[in-house]
Amino acid sequence: MNIAVFVSGRGSNLRSIQNSIKNGEMKVKIVAVVSDKTDCAAFDFAHSENIQTYSVFDAKRDGFSDYFSLTGSLLSSGVELIVLAGFLKKIPVHFLESFRDKIINIHPALLPAFGGKGMYGMNVHKAVFNSSAKVSGATVHFVNANYDEGKIIAQRCVEIEGVKSPEEIAEKVLKIEHELLPFVVKKISEKKVFPNGNRIEILN
Ligand code: GRF
Repeated sequence: MNIAVFVSGRGSNLRSIQNSIKNGEMKVKIVAVVSDKTDCAAFDFAHSENIQTYSVFDAKRDGFSDYFSLTGSLLSSGVELIVLAGFLKKIPVHFLESFRDKIINIHPALLPAFGGKGMYGMNVHKAVFNSSAKVSGATVHFVNANYDEGKIIAQRCVEIEGVKSPEEIAEKVLKIEHELLPFVVKKISEKKVFPNGNRIEILN
C-alpha cells in the first residue's frame, strides 16, 4: 500500500513508520511526505530516504503546491492512505472528500478529551498536566472536517501520576505514539480496520 505522510516539523512519527517498513513489519511504501513548510527536519529525513516531498499551501504560492494539484500528484502516485503525523494546518474539505475515509491523524492525548482547535503540541500536554489527570496517551483517528472529532481507531494509555512537568508527559506519550501509529498503518494496509455500526473495529 502506498501512503503519504503529512508533517510540520520534527518528523519522529514519520521515522517510526519508515523504521517499521524497513524492518519488514508491513508491506507499505511512503511515496510522499507533505508539509506546510518548505524546510523542516522531517523533510531532511525524507530526502535522506529518497522520498518525494511536497510543500502545500491553501492558495497558489511560489514553491508550494495548492491542495488541488497535490490531490492530483498523490492520486497519480497511487496513494491509498494519508497519515497526518504532527501536521498543524487544517485540511480543506475538498481534499478530505477526495480521500474520504483514507486520512488518519495521531493526537497526543486520549480523545475526546484535550482535543479541538489550538490543542496541538505542548498545548495538549500543558492542559493534561494542569488538569491533574493521572493517565494520558495517544489516539489515532479518522479525520473529518472538525478538529480531532473523527472516529477513534486505536488508543494507548500511559500512567502520568507523579510527573513533574508537561515535558515529562510529552516524552512518555511520544514513546507510545511511535508504537501506535505504525501498528494502525499496518492494520489498515492489511485491511483489518473496518466500521461496524458506530464503532471502528480492528481484527487481530
Ligand atoms: C506528535 O506528538 C503528534 O502526536 C502531534 O505532533 C507531534 C509531532 O511529532 N500531533 P513528530 O513531528 O512526529 O516528531
